[in-house]
Amino acid sequence: MKLEEKINRIYDAAQDKSRVQGLTHNFYRYPARFSPVFARTAIELFSKPGDIVLDPYMGGGTTIIEAAANGRRAIGVDLNSLACFIARVKTTLLSTSEKRSLLDWIEHHFEDMKYHHAVDQSYTDDKKTRNLDLVKARYIKKIVAIALSTIQTLPTRNAQDFARCVILKTAQNALDGQRGRTPTASFRKQLRMNLDEMLNGISDYEIIGRERQISIYEKDAALIDTLPAFSNEKRLVDLVVTSPPYPGLHVLYHRWQVDGRKESPAPYWITGTCDGQGDSYYNFGSRHQPGFQKYFDASMRTLRAIHKVMKPGAHIIQMVAFCNPEELLPRYLWNMEELGFKEVLAQDRIWRDVPNRKWHATFRGHTQGSKEVVLIHKSVAAS
Ligand SMILES: C[S@@+](CC[C@H](N)C(=O)[O-])C[C@H]1O[C@@H](n2cnc3c(N)ncnc32)[C@H](O)[C@@H]1O
Repeated sequence: MKLEEKINRIYDAAQDKSRVQGLTHNFYRYPARFSPVFARTAIELFSKPGDIVLDPYMGGGTTIIEAAANGRRAIGVDLNSLACFIARVKTTLLSTSEKRSLLDWIEHHFEDMKYHHAVDQSYTDDKKTRNLDLVKARYIKKIVAIALSTIQTLPTRNAQDFARCVILKTAQNALDGQRGRTPTASFRKQLRMNLDEMLNGISDYEIIGRERQISIYEKDAALIDTLPAFSNEKRLVDLVVTSPPYPGLHVLYHRWQVDGRKESPAPYWITGTCDGQGDSYYNFGSRHQPGFQKYFDASMRTLRAIHKVMKPGAHIIQMVAFCNPEELLPRYLWNMEELGFKEVLAQDRIWRDVPNRKWHATFRGHTQGSKEVVLIHKSVAAS
């Protein structure tokens, strides 16, 4: 297939607005995730089975799931422990007995679960559950705490993490950006439905996915070239499909917004992962700092390391959103060129409007909206 046709197909896929579905993609609504159709198309057209596909800002793992499901070897890197937790659960196969234990778990513990049931205080630690005492959240907080207290009845770490993810998905639907209150009976019902749906998802993934071909690292992408995967040979990566933090747009990767935008660290509480970082940690800089120097310094550091692990001639396909593309895109592109990436068919770049309406719950900034673009570069020279 000619390069131009490949690029047109990627641009078409980037316009995909269908509901995210299939395999394990729906285990969690990771903020600013991209479409699996986009990731799959890029992987199919720019790599072949057995190749190594890297996502250095992996998020919820869309790229690595599609890479593994299409017979590629996948490497995912993210410094957010929540992202790594989710990507691991989405790509870890379960044994038949683990699946059975999960069905028993839901059967035994949830049918008669009531708000007034006692639960050890260690499950409702104040710091980890900040802002969950608000009227609309407190019932869910209690039910989630009861659910978390039953996790250790599951026989293995994989089953326990899967159960945490079921609770996470259900609680996200009930709390994150929601105005109404979810009754506890309906929450219990949704837990059951989500467990069934997620077990089906992991079974679908099992049929085509290749778990052992995936490596996930909780690391700063600026350190990619020091990871064990690259200890013998650096330039291993055949394709990068990714979506970095966005210049001038802040995404709430690490918090939910409950009861009218009050931020809660609930996802870390539920998954038992660490937090302690502010939003600047995940966004290449703080939204309160004027200018974009910090953003571009961090972006350069990571792109330099990414370049070091790519084979000469390998492609990097990025979905990037800009609040002010006229000013920021040229700067972004100039940096890419400095580091040894050459843009492919730049004149045909295609933009997509992202209305603030859709992003307001996660994006912070002074923009009315933002624009997303797909950038396709080739690694051409050692930096
Ligand atoms: C736009 S999201 C990626 C979403 C992903 N494409 C998906 O479909 O879920 C960007 C990710 O970059 C991660 N990130 C930010 N700074 C990073 C760094 N220095 N190294 C690695 N990951 C980083 C954030 O934690 C966030 O998960």
